[in-house]
Amino acid sequence: MQKDVSSCNTYNYGDSLYWNSRYIQEGGSFDWYQRYSSLRPFIRKYIPPSSRVLVVGCGNAVMSEDMVKDGYEDIMNMDISSVAIDMMRRKYEDIPQLKYMHMDVRDMSFFPDESFDGVIDKGTLDSLMCGTDAPISAAQMLGEVCRLLLKPGGTYMLITYGDPKVRMPHIGKPVYNWKITLFIIPRPGFQKPETCSSSTKAYLEPVPITEEGFLPSSFVLEDPDSHFIYFCKKDG
Ligand SMILES: C[S@@+](CC[C@H](N)C(=O)[O-])C[C@H]1O[C@@H](n2cnc3c(N)ncnc32)[C@H](O)[C@@H]1O
Repeated sequence: MQKDVSSCNTYNYGDSLYWNSRYIQEGGSFDWYQRYSSLRPFIRKYIPPSSRVLVVGCGNAVMSEDMVKDGYEDIMNMDISSVAIDMMRRKYEDIPQLKYMHMDVRDMSFFPDESFDGVIDKGTLDSLMCGTDAPISAAQMLGEVCRLLLKPGGTYMLITYGDPKVRMPHIGKPVYNWKITLFIIPRPGFQKPETCSSSTKAYLEPVPITEEGFLPSSFVLEDPDSHFIYFCKKDG
């Protein structure tokens, strides 16, 4: 099965029943898009190990476990799939740095305002964008993420297939008052064409965006299936 949220019309990624049956069928663990090892330089820079971290839509990914191995001390994970949460709670019952809660990202009223220094989203906003009433779901989710971030400085990290044209209309709303920095990394295993001169180090540099938050017209995407990483830092 293709693990690609961008093929929205095939699967209902916004539906908890879909995710529950998928996690029952597949078991084990799977990290969408990227593993922690590729994201580490970005996460360590924007969300240091002393942070209180919330991972939204954690699924059965091993990213949070890898973060604990790398020194993170306080990671709350949540997902709308009770199957995934039960599995992960059992798996990590001996790791006190990892907590798991069954919750809908559109209503996280269980947590008080400004509970977290960092919120990490790998593929969850993308899933909501495939569901019914996607713009409303996205606004509910982003409103909750914004409320839960410490101000100033709290950071929402969004790892997504969505380029700025499709994501900025949601994350760039003035109400969130986020300072947004964008990075673009190729999908794992992408082979650069021989004519291409850029180095791996270049991925660690932010990509310039226009005042409206879009990619400059001259920008060339080396890998058409790249992943976009948005760091949305709360100003006040
Ligand atoms: C594409 S998977 C990504 C899983 C994990 N973050 C990873 O990187 O491997 C999307 C996850 O979002 C969860 N999800 C979808 N809608 C949700 C919602 N409304 N609230 C919380 N989690 C949701 C799904 O259950 C699924 O685990």
